[in-house]
Amino acid sequence: MKYSEKVMDHFTNPRNVGEIENADGVGVVGNAKCGDIMKMYLKIDENEVITDCKFKTFGCGAAIATSSMATELVKGHTVEEALKLTNSAVVEALDGLPAVKVHCSVLAEEAIKSAVADYYTKIGKPVDFELEDHDHDHDHVVED
Ligand code: FES
Repeated sequence: MKYSEKVMDHFTNPRNVGEIENADGVGVVGNAKCGDIMKMYLKIDENEVITDCKFKTFGCGAAIATSSMATELVKGHTVEEALKLTNSAVVEALDGLPAVKVHCSVLAEEAIKSAVADYYTKIGKPVDFELEDHDHDHDHVVED
């Protein structure tokens, strides 16, 4: 299985790793099957611009690389724009992922949505978008 240079770069040198104290939105998503967990922290200003974004991922390399790229893609953008970030846009920004690893990128998209939902709840805004059910199965392929 081949990973792009960008995936390897973001995996070995992930951007925006860590926690944000007093974050405006925190999202946690996980998959019960592979045990991967992703936690996303957002700092949001009064104009709904994401001024900072950090993540922690306990999971596979593709999950780390996609969360790293996702934080870069939402930083400096509005919450509205962040909600439009799809996992395929993240995969594209990384020059692709092997097909069996595409599901890992879904975690990054969902972690951002979950953090925004947390922010909306805090400020009393209705959560008018879908949050995924994370208990779906995902196929695991043994790599050799
Ligand atoms: Fe399940 Fe990567 S998120 S193996």
